[in-house]
Amino acid sequence: MNDTLKVIANRRSVRNYATPPLNEEEKDAILGAAMRAPTAGNLMLYSIIEIEDQALKDRLAVTCDNQPFIAKAPLLLLFAADYQRQFDIYTMSGAEEKSRQRGIDFRKPQVGDMLLACCDAVIAAQTAVLAAESLGIGSCYIGDILEQYETHRELLGLPPYVVPVALVCFGRPAVVKDEVRLTPRYDRKFIVHRDRYHSIDRLGMEEMLRPTVERAFPSEFRPEDVDEIAQRMFFRKFASDFAREMSRSVREMLKNWEE
Ligand SMILES: Cc1cc2nc3c(=O)[nH]c(=O)nc-3n(C[C@H](O)[C@H](O)[C@H](O)COP(=O)(O)O)c2cc1C
Repeated sequence: MNDTLKVIANRRSVRNYATPPLNEEEKDAILGAAMRAPTAGNLMLYSIIEIEDQALKDRLAVTCDNQPFIAKAPLLLLFAADYQRQFDIYTMSGAEEKSRQRGIDFRKPQVGDMLLACCDAVIAAQTAVLAAESLGIGSCYIGDILEQYETHRELLGLPPYVVPVALVCFGRPAVVKDEVRLTPRYDRKFIVHRDRYHSIDRLGMEEMLRPTVERAFPSEFRPEDVDEIAQRMFFRKFASDFAREMSRSVREMLKNWEE
């Protein structure tokens, strides 16, 4: 395995950080790597906001579903999908008038543009994560930045066509272990499809969740425990208050991008 693959294979989310801040060289390397990420049409449809202000970090630790470690991250970066900058350029250039002259409908950014910008933002974020990891700096995504859109828009001064997509905490791990304990993944055969999509059936479900069931119930494997595990996931990850708030908040974001 080469060094790059080793960095990818051994990464895991880090939520407990050593206190010293990252130095300028490290920050520069992380941001520089993010900006070298592939980007749709080479338009860089994202913005990165470094959250430096401690009061703002404290607030985000609360608004992002009460996760106190956010406030302690030595480097906190928000990756936002950004069509505002590009649309402002079009507007300032007089593209609207030119469109009229050519008989072409001038349009504002729409949901497809938003999804493309989200892809850009996430790809930049993950490039930053891997660059940090290669420097011995751990990281953790905060998906809850998708919640409370109205509050985050206000706190961060986001214009209509900028939406928060990934908040990422960075910092050196407080505890460095000799052996990395990776979080398990589903077996590849359930994730990688050949030529066309294959839906999961009951047997597949039992096989896919079996390692999780065996960790939770070390005694003999029982199919009913598979249901128990799936239901626990349902209530914790899907029917939870935070998941409902996330959908409400994203619906609010989408309003700006609808025709
Ligand atoms: C989009 C996304 C959102 C996440 N949100 C959170 C979060 O809000 N809080 C948290 O502690 N971890 C969060 N994580 C980290 C995941 O829990 C973690 O990646 C997963 O458990 C697998 O563990 P690993 O990264 O150590 O392999 C998030 C990860 C992703 C990709």
